[in-house]
Amino acid sequence: MEWRHRHLFDLDDWTREDIERVLALTSEIEGILNDGGKALPSLKGKTLVNFFLESSTRTRVSFEIAAKLLGMGVINWAAASSSMAVKGESLKDTLWTLESMGVDVVVVRSSWVGAPQYMARKLRRARVINAGDGTHAHPTQALLDIYTAWKRFGSLEGKRVLIAGDILQSRVARSDIIGFKKMGSEVIISGPGNMVPLNYKALGVRYEPDFAKAVRESDIIYLLRVQKERWQVNAIPSDYEYHLSFGCSEETLREARGCAVVMHPGPINRGVEIASEVADGDKSLILEQVRNGVLVRAALLYLYLGGDA
Ligand code: CP
Repeated sequence: MEWRHRHLFDLDDWTREDIERVLALTSEIEGILNDGGKALPSLKGKTLVNFFLESSTRTRVSFEIAAKLLGMGVINWAAASSSMAVKGESLKDTLWTLESMGVDVVVVRSSWVGAPQYMARKLRRARVINAGDGTHAHPTQALLDIYTAWKRFGSLEGKRVLIAGDILQSRVARSDIIGFKKMGSEVIISGPGNMVPLNYKALGVRYEPDFAKAVRESDIIYLLRVQKERWQVNAIPSDYEYHLSFGCSEETLREARGCAVVMHPGPINRGVEIASEVADGDKSLILEQVRNGVLVRAALLYLYLGGDA
């Protein structure tokens, strides 16, 4: 069945069936890789450009590995040394140049909300995948989070997901809220009042200011970094004080449900939102999320570039 989306901006125009299709294909790819990887679907002859205007480790590298697993060519466009940065070339001309050289998919990260949509309007043939636009959306992170949780719990129907920390600045929180709710989960948020969006009720979530209580009541404890680089003011009194109220320590986690898991999109700040013992502990799925990022992104490339799944 043909994939009905041309570009990936966010999950708001996705159905639950769309998400389930990605989960099924990711699971299939994981099975093939566990068997030695010989029968992996192929996108040989296609080319991906990583177009990152903001820093990244996980997302950029995992797209590169995923594309190479499928036999694709990969270009890591370097923002700082590009003709856009140094010689005044416009974004539109840069995109047309890359497209003329045969690029099939542009994976874009930018601090500019709406950059993926703008780029999709300028491109004539190539697909656009949003790898994070400002504080707006990070749909591939949400899909790998959902895949990781789905593998652990089997079904996400009725599961309670706590997203805690700097919700206001978090594109991950916004995409995760949309995605987990589409899968039938309940989402609650926690964090300091200044880090909670004023319109949080419109997102269909409940706000629980008592972090320890929220941890006790949840199946998935999803922690977020304080994005100091996006705050114009000191958002928290100190890392230490933040940790006392909203950091997940071993002591806080001791009160959690037996089945509860800890997740984080990374990068983690040890001793702030998460204690080292929790990050490295047996409830942590953080490195599994990273591993699954490669698989989910491979599935997405296959679907968006016309693979038959
Ligand atoms: N989670 C995430 O997007 O990590 P990077 O910023 O390292 O890509």
